[in-house]
Amino acid sequence: MESLTRASRMNLIFCRQINLLVLFLCLLCTLTAFAQTDLTGFWVFRVPTGDGNFRETFMDLKQNGGDVTGKILAGTREIPIAEGTFKDGKLHFVTRTGSGEQVRQTVYEGTMNGDKIEMSSQATGREPAKGTAERTKPEAALPPERLPLPELHDVRDNGLVRTPPMGWNSWNKFAGKIDDATVRQIADAMVSSGMKDAGYIYVNIDDTWEAAKRDAQGNIATNPKFPDMKALADYVHSKGLKIGIYSSPGPKTCAQYEGSYGHEEQDARSYAAWGIDYLKYDWCGAARIYKDEEMQALYQKMGDTLLRVGRPIVYSLCQYGRQDVWTWGAKVGGNLWRTTGDISDHWQSMDKIGFQQFDIAPYAKPGHFNDPDMLEIGNGGMTADEYRTHMSLWSLLAAPLLAGNDLRSMTDETKSILLNKEVIAIDQDPDVHPARRVSDANATSVIVTRLLHGGSTALGLFNRADHPQNIDVKWESIGLGGKKLQARDLWKHADAQVGADGYSASVPAHGVVLLKLQASR
Ligand code: GLA
Repeated sequence: MESLTRASRMNLIFCRQINLLVLFLCLLCTLTAFAQTDLTGFWVFRVPTGDGNFRETFMDLKQNGGDVTGKILAGTREIPIAEGTFKDGKLHFVTRTGSGEQVRQTVYEGTMNGDKIEMSSQATGREPAKGTAERTKPEAALPPERLPLPELHDVRDNGLVRTPPMGWNSWNKFAGKIDDATVRQIADAMVSSGMKDAGYIYVNIDDTWEAAKRDAQGNIATNPKFPDMKALADYVHSKGLKIGIYSSPGPKTCAQYEGSYGHEEQDARSYAAWGIDYLKYDWCGAARIYKDEEMQALYQKMGDTLLRVGRPIVYSLCQYGRQDVWTWGAKVGGNLWRTTGDISDHWQSMDKIGFQQFDIAPYAKPGHFNDPDMLEIGNGGMTADEYRTHMSLWSLLAAPLLAGNDLRSMTDETKSILLNKEVIAIDQDPDVHPARRVSDANATSVIVTRLLHGGSTALGLFNRADHPQNIDVKWESIGLGGKKLQARDLWKHADAQVGADGYSASVPAHGVVLLKLQASR
């Protein structure tokens, strides 16, 4: 018994020693592996989007001891690594873009796993993105071969949307989290909320509906979020609504989904076969192949194509207002063209975009409109006064009214803004006369007029200041001097008492007073 116990004790000690040895060896191996790992080279960091697609970031890394330098390649941009380390198998680096208060930082963290790196990236204020980085060749980051461009000519007008298109678009609220079920519910809500009756007709699916791969014949396919686009289009049509879709003239869209590059005709035919009524065509990935000066030809290519596919399709150009698109958007068959970068749901963004549009207002014509981007009304980042300014300004500018909120859960206040039929009537005025800013460009009180069908005038008194202020307007300064005027306050839904020479309104911070003036006989 005694000797057995001693034997087992010896055994135990031996085992422990073996264990320690194994542990030590493992540690040594790992340390040697890390010491030997040289991250120098080209990597692709792939983040699955959950619908079969991946977002890819190429990394050109240089390792020197524990220091990591190099750059990341995101789309057309090369962003240098600001600070980077590799220690005990852990990679850490930071990139920064922009300057001053606009600096955007992204932190990348990685852990070696064999010859791969399990990675995450986190941009300030964004959800972290997780994925895997693998070694690849620099050629993998190169765009496909450049295809020749057509000669420029004028594309025939498709005759659609004689007044600015109205509807809804998925991007502002849902971004990549949009699917068939949500689009159906939005279509239902468009009808039940009264939006359809107020003129909102287009239900537009933005980026992230595309599958990662085309089918064997090269046809564009949908990812599992949209199992049957034709059935979805049928559903939306059954509600008396129309349906829109999104693509890019480049190989990839902004969210890195499949674009229409080299498949324009095929894609346009697919849209037509599904029953699509509207296409938003977003430059993004095309910038990897073509210069900005070449975009007119690329947009013309799709403009021509859409006319050939036997279905009326509204054509929306999205290239952020580059190349003075308002001077050629209609020539390529565009019904609307974005005039700015992306809007976001806060005052500074909307204010900057909205009040910058007056110089180009005369380019809007029936069937061809400036598009200062989709509405943010109801998304929660602005006050009701600010949203009323948003709606009033977009309407005076004859801008497309594409709601960007969740129509299934609108507050009464949001409805009262989006559904204000008197304001919508300004937007939809058939004459599309340009909005005119009467006041100084930098003033915090902005007076805007627009001549309406039948001779009446819309008058917006905007207060861009952070405090309430009185805004005075003299009829003479807006070409209505000496006339006896009747006025209607379009937000109060009531007649307004105006003076013989002018009007003075107390306007809340970031708010608006919107009047319709009619000279009485
Ligand atoms: C760009 C456009 C947006 C939206 C996204 C989708 O940023 O300007 O309106 O379509 O792409 O990725």
